[in-house]
Amino acid sequence: MKILAIESSCDETAAAVVENGDKVLSSVVASQIAEHRLYGGVVPEIASRRHCESITAVVSQALSDAGLSLEDIDAIGVTAAPGLIGALLVGVNFAKGLALASNKPLIPVHHIRSHIAANYLSNPELKPPFLCLVASGGHSHIIEVLTYTQFRVIGRTRDDAAGEAYDKAARAMGFPYPGGKEIDEAAGKGNPQAYKLPHPQVDGCPFDFSFSGLKTAVINLLHNAEQKNETVNINDLAASFQQTVCDILSSKLMAAAQEFGYHNIAIAGGVAANSGLRSRLEQDCRKNGYTFYLPDLSLCGDNAAMVGCQAYFEYQSGVRANYNLNAAASMPVDQVNW
Ligand code: KG4
Ligand code: ZN
Repeated sequence: MKILAIESSCDETAAAVVENGDKVLSSVVASQIAEHRLYGGVVPEIASRRHCESITAVVSQALSDAGLSLEDIDAIGVTAAPGLIGALLVGVNFAKGLALASNKPLIPVHHIRSHIAANYLSNPELKPPFLCLVASGGHSHIIEVLTYTQFRVIGRTRDDAAGEAYDKAARAMGFPYPGGKEIDEAAGKGNPQAYKLPHPQVDGCPFDFSFSGLKTAVINLLHNAEQKNETVNINDLAASFQQTVCDILSSKLMAAAQEFGYHNIAIAGGVAANSGLRSRLEQDCRKNGYTFYLPDLSLCGDNAAMVGCQAYFEYQSGVRANYNLNAAASMPVDQVNW
């Protein structure tokens, strides 16, 4: 079964053709990051406009890279929630138009579910159940993946997502948007013990995260140093920040694995590209006797191959949308409602 998948939840317009949930026949990603960088973050209105401009070309490219035409496609999958509403609507309406014109089934996909599905593409042996940390620009969750389409959230952020904390701390350190990757690179050249940063906890909720205090600590440290005319070694600060984020994410994930009895652990989302996090989780999983799965770097950020993969499993479980399908800016990953 060949699925044409479309993703437009944030600042990447993407389309892919995926066969039977595991064979990526094509994957095209048009990133808008360079333009949003001028403003220090994603400007929703610009994102929607750019999606409108690129989506036809991106979808045509995905079909032609796969050597297929629309007639060869069996179903259309699309990210319908969560994300920037104006951005999501472009993909959803385009997918509805394609489905209507070609009389193919329309499959709505939850964005976080598709990030998790990136793991199936990179690790064909991985099957639910497993425990997954999803860390992206908009979300930080510890999720029990019970089946391909059943999930239970056991930890979540109370404020900033991990990627958001990276991007805001990076901005304070003088890096361009999105700064996650920049901090990651600088961290490799710094001393992670140089600065002591807080490890915020959420009272009574051991698997929940709070990153906003950590971000503020970085901003205050830079501000105080500036007032005292002291210099801050940015590589050391980046390394200390990265080590702190990795400590927080890994300790909670390991504790959740122990509490809920999981031996298969995965990560997903843009922050899963972080080199410090990848190696830290790899080490901690090995120490605890867990098997660790992670997506290829190319599948960590937003893309449509992961959407095509998850759409296949949604289709298998009977999910279909009609032409009333709407996009939703927020929707719990474990309670989808199309
Ligand atoms: O999953 P994603 O592409 O979009 C959302 O669904 O949010 O995640 C984007 C986030 C950004 O915050 C970006 O800074 C972060 O992922 N990111 C990283 C790295 N690469 C991307 N954060 C830390 N280290 C990286 N290497
Ligand atoms: Zn994403």
